[in-house]
Amino acid sequence: MIKNFKRIFLFIGVASALNSYSQNEIVLNADKGKEIINKNIYGHFAEHLGHCIYGGFYVGDTNKTIPHKDGVRLDVIEALKKLKAPVLRWPGGCFADTYHWKDGVGPKKERPSMLNVWWGNVKEDNSFGTNEFLNMCELLGAEPYLSGNVGSGTPQELSDWVKYTSHPNGSSPMTDLRQKNGRPNPWNVKYWGLGNEAWGCGGNMKVEYYANVYRQYATFMTNWNNSDRIYRIASGASDADYHWTEVLMKELPANMFDALGLHHYSVINWSKKGSSTDFSEREYFTTMQRALLMEELVTKHSEIMDKYDPQKKKALAVDEWGGWYDVVQGTNGAFLFQQNTMRDAMIAGATLNIFNNHCDRVKMANLAQIINVLQAVILTKEEKMILTPTYHVMEMYNVHQDATLLPVSVTSNKYILDKDTLNAISVSASKDKNGITHVSLVNIDAAKAQSVSININGANYKSITGRILTSDKLQNYNSFESPNKIVPAVFNGAQLNGSKLNLNIPPFSVVVLELK
Ligand code: AHR
Repeated sequence: MIKNFKRIFLFIGVASALNSYSQNEIVLNADKGKEIINKNIYGHFAEHLGHCIYGGFYVGDTNKTIPHKDGVRLDVIEALKKLKAPVLRWPGGCFADTYHWKDGVGPKKERPSMLNVWWGNVKEDNSFGTNEFLNMCELLGAEPYLSGNVGSGTPQELSDWVKYTSHPNGSSPMTDLRQKNGRPNPWNVKYWGLGNEAWGCGGNMKVEYYANVYRQYATFMTNWNNSDRIYRIASGASDADYHWTEVLMKELPANMFDALGLHHYSVINWSKKGSSTDFSEREYFTTMQRALLMEELVTKHSEIMDKYDPQKKKALAVDEWGGWYDVVQGTNGAFLFQQNTMRDAMIAGATLNIFNNHCDRVKMANLAQIINVLQAVILTKEEKMILTPTYHVMEMYNVHQDATLLPVSVTSNKYILDKDTLNAISVSASKDKNGITHVSLVNIDAAKAQSVSININGANYKSITGRILTSDKLQNYNSFESPNKIVPAVFNGAQLNGSKLNLNIPPFSVVVLELK
């Protein structure tokens, strides 16, 4: 008996040693690309919340200390252009269903103030409104995505917003108003959300009811120039609410919508989210469990959509995602300001790999939120601005934008914590318009480096270069005192031998390889 126990222990020991040190195997099918990774998967979200707009993007057009154009910070614009931010959702979030756009146009002195009831009851003076936002998108080279007020607005109000922003000059009182406000030509806004979280802050509706409301609002959002450019996104499910997706797919007429939303945050526990910087490995592990759940959510929501739309004409737009922790101590609890560590880089890298690999259905995603709120890519403090690890991941990954997805299969080692396991390695690959292949890999293991072997089918690469984002502590972050603690570096750790590529990825690191 004792002998048998010994044998069992020996076997378990050898098996786990093998697991820790064996190779992660990836097969890259370089000649099997079919789907395009829509650049909008790398999209962003800006809400009138905390210092996302005011102090983040907008410092006011009379500001004398921070360089700006019409009140919009130029350092932020420059950083976001470098990121190639393709699309920006605005003005919410929960704020969107309380927002009446006409309060935010015309001479600033005449714009009424309101209380931002969702986010701290602070005064919203409407100095940043439709013209400011759409002009800013032009400056950024990003497509605007306007989130319409369905919860407390009217069909007329939303229909007027479409006319104000997008109908040809001289075609209605709304386009006359636009001209009076200094903008004769339309901005031609393509992306429109019909409410936000209609199941919650957007009106606490049941999905059957929302489907009817959606149909009513969508009816009056007319196209312009007889073109079909308007793209309507229905307020989608929260997490695993598959009933929501099922009912919308069944009840919304195909000619009335283009995409369904989906919101999923990586939060440990809604009543105790934990610190954004001072966290244990267990908290990190749980955050990653939540983040990797995105794979299951996207797969299952897509399966439901497949039943009604096998040709995949309708998209899934994950228009809110990211890590959510307790606010930084000493900051306003309603402003959702958190720091951004290597944990957030892991969420970003792994989640973007999931979106890339599901690009047949996921055509847009919007990280929550772009500046100073939740998993931000930029933090500002008066005239200072820093880029977070999440920014750097999105910048490294922007090579995938509008590239052709190359299918990969992965046999990953496990990242083990106590009795729990997660796949350590995540990967996606694409071929860009110049024929260059990029492979993005994440090792989420908090302690172990992972050696990876990639078998390449269907291509004969001659050269390889790479970049890495890593740090010596998972809890590290960029601060205003030390803004460049975490920045991408050259990665020389990959060897190419014919059709085999070998590399060793340090713990909690993101690597992007370029193959020619
Ligand atoms: O991103 C913060 C909030 O999270 C949004 O306003 C809302 O849509 C979601 O619940």
